[in-house]
Amino acid sequence: MQRRPRRNRRSAAIRNLVRETRLHPSQLILPLFIIDGSNIKIEISSMPGNFRMSLDNLLKEIEEAVELGIESIILFPGVEENLKDSIASYADAEDNFYLKAAVKIKQNFPNIHLISDVAMDPYSSDGHDGLVKNGQILNDETLPILGKMSVAQAKAGFDWLGPSDMMDGRIGYIRETLDLAGYSNTGILAYTAKYASAFYGPFRDALDSAPKAGDKKTYQMDPSNRYEAQIEAELDELEGADVLMVKPALHYLDVISDLKSISNLPIAAYHVSGECAMLTAACQNGWLEYEKAMPEALTSIHRAGADIILTYFAKDFAKFHKAGKV
Ligand code: PBG
Repeated sequence: MQRRPRRNRRSAAIRNLVRETRLHPSQLILPLFIIDGSNIKIEISSMPGNFRMSLDNLLKEIEEAVELGIESIILFPGVEENLKDSIASYADAEDNFYLKAAVKIKQNFPNIHLISDVAMDPYSSDGHDGLVKNGQILNDETLPILGKMSVAQAKAGFDWLGPSDMMDGRIGYIRETLDLAGYSNTGILAYTAKYASAFYGPFRDALDSAPKAGDKKTYQMDPSNRYEAQIEAELDELEGADVLMVKPALHYLDVISDLKSISNLPIAAYHVSGECAMLTAACQNGWLEYEKAMPEALTSIHRAGADIILTYFAKDFAKFHKAGKV
């Protein structure tokens, strides 16, 4: 035999030398859920270890994450039903708790890289990401609402904005609006290929943000489509995105790999709530070993081409990293 690939697997030292990918906690973004009030910390039943928290508890959570080596956080608001309306007016309201929280987080942790969510759904009484009229989700008419939301978030101190509605022309419009308002240093994490996925279930339960009628198939992508993601990538890049994201992650590794090969922008992948819930449930049943299966899942996403991973396992991965287990 001329070739024996096993020679490169003979010892731990050799395996360490030839390892192609290494995931570091600084490449992870931890998603956190905030609700208004104080002294609240409610576990999300389908995502053990993840909570809806008021700001006081959230600050403690961030402190813990920072100590473990997490540097980036994406924050999602859970808004009370009576504050929602058809035009998402609470999104940039003066007393908006999400915006006030961002100010506090940046005061307490100036080095944290803080990322927002730009979409109507947390604030919309229709539960859709855009304006709804006669059952239609409007594209262009939603833009000014997202523009106002973006400027308010940039002003509050978010470092990257995450337009997540998968409608057309978002990146260009938000980029221009931010620049005109003097926020040219605020970045845009583009939800480039976000699929109409069944794996967002636990997230929507956590935030009560499921659509009241219909589904999101006229704006989020069809899970059957691979090449369409490249059209979205081209547009987001031209419109001024700083990072391109694929969502979900584990079920869309081909898409991650494609975008990595066609773009020189950093590629992010969102390991979503349902993907985490699957693994957690199997581990709780004793069917998988968490300490091995979880890092393998994250490594797969990185190996496929994601430079950045958003995952609810970020803290645990950082813990394992600190202990020298990964
Ligand atoms: C919507 C949004 C969703 C998620 C992040 N932002 C849900 C949706 O599109 O309905 C899902 C994240 C997850 O499942 O972890 N603004």
